[in-house]
Amino acid sequence: MQRPIDLRSDTVTHPTPAMRRAMAEAELGDDVFGDDPTVNALEERAAALLGKEAGLFVSSGTQGNLVALMAHLARGQEAIAAFESHTVMDEAAGHAVVVGASVRTLQSSPDGTMRLDEIEAAFRDPSDPHEPITGLVTIENTHAHSGGRPLTAAYTRAVADIARAHAVPLHVDGARFWNAVVALGADPRDLAGPADSVTFCLSKGLACPVGSVVVGTRDFIWRARRARKLLGGGMRQAGILAAAGLVALSDGPDGTIGRLADDHANARRLAEGLADLDGVESPGGIVQPAPGRLDPDRITTDFVVFRVARDRAAFLAALEARGVLMVPYPHGAIRAVTHYGVEPHDVDATIAAVRAALADTVVVGAPTGTAHRPARRA
Ligand SMILES: Cc1ncc(COP(=O)(O)O)c(C=O)c1O
Repeated sequence: MQRPIDLRSDTVTHPTPAMRRAMAEAELGDDVFGDDPTVNALEERAAALLGKEAGLFVSSGTQGNLVALMAHLARGQEAIAAFESHTVMDEAAGHAVVVGASVRTLQSSPDGTMRLDEIEAAFRDPSDPHEPITGLVTIENTHAHSGGRPLTAAYTRAVADIARAHAVPLHVDGARFWNAVVALGADPRDLAGPADSVTFCLSKGLACPVGSVVVGTRDFIWRARRARKLLGGGMRQAGILAAAGLVALSDGPDGTIGRLADDHANARRLAEGLADLDGVESPGGIVQPAPGRLDPDRITTDFVVFRVARDRAAFLAALEARGVLMVPYPHGAIRAVTHYGVEPHDVDATIAAVRAALADTVVVGAPTGTAHRPARRA
C-alpha cells in the first residue's frame, strides 16, 4: 500500500540518509558522566548558534520546557504564559504537577503575541503575602495556536525588557524556533538573544528522530541538568541520537535548517489551493479572526489551519480514505503541517484529495436527502 501523505504534524518526519549514516557511525560515551563526545558537540553547537553559554540535550520539547521551568522557578512561584501555549495546554500540567508552580495565562493576539501592557499588568505584587510570586515569563516561537506565527526579535526584546524590569527571566519555547528564524530571515542569535533560555526541537521540521536542546547560561544549564536527572532524562549513549542533531545543525548540504523554507513554500502552496475550494473556510479564532475564505497571506511557516463547512470527523475520514492525514485543531479547525518528505506534487495531490473529500461529505446544516449525501464509492 502507498504511504499516506501525512500532514498531521512535522513530528512524523523520518531521519535523512545523512542522519542515519551519522547515527550509525557516532562516537559514543556515557552522557550522564558527561563524556559522550557527540552529545557534547551537539550541546556546544546549539549554544554557539543561539549565542548562549551552554546547551543541554533532552528527550523532547516537553522535557525541555519542563527542565527550564524547574531551573527558573521555585515551588509556589508563577509563570506568565499565553493561554493558547503548548506549555499551558499540551504538557499535562507539568508546571503544576512537577514544578509546583501556577501559570497566569494571557490571551494571544492573532499575530501570536501577548499584549505588552497585559504582560506588564500580569506581574504579581511581591510585597503582598496573599499572591504567588511571579518567577518567569514564557513565550512560544513560532506560536502554534495562532497558526505557526513567527515572533520577531523586537517583540522578544520588548517582553524580555519587561521581565528584566521585574528581575524575572524569559524562557522561549522555540519548538519551531528555526522555522521562525527562516521565515523572518533572522539571525538566530538576535532572535534568542533577549531570552534567558530557549528550547528548540530537533524532531520536528529539522527531521531528527528524537530530541530537543535547551540553551542558556552555564549556571542555568547546570540546574536544568539536575532537573533532567530528576525526571529520569539522563540518557547514556545518547550520542547515537545527538548525531542526527549535529547533521541537522550543520552548515553543509546535509543540514536541515535551510530546507525549512521549502516547507513554508509548500504550506503557502497548499493554502492557496485550499482557499480556492468551496467548503474551505477561515479557521476563525486567533488563526484568522475574519470569517470568509481562508487567507493564504496568514500562512508564513509550516502550518495550514482551516475549517470545512462539513462535519469535521466525516471530512477527515473521507480525506484519510484518499490517503491524506490531517488532525482536528482547537475551535473546530483542521491542521495540516508541511515537512521533510512532503513535496510540491504531494501538496497538489492533497488539494485534489480535499476537493474530493468535500464532495464526499455532508454539508453542515444541509437537509438529508440532498445532493450533498456522501458519494458511494465503487
Ligand atoms: C509549541 C510546542 N512546544 C513544545 C512541544 C513539545 O514537543 P515534544 O512533542 O517533543 O514534547 C510541541 C510539540 O508539538 C510544540 O508544538
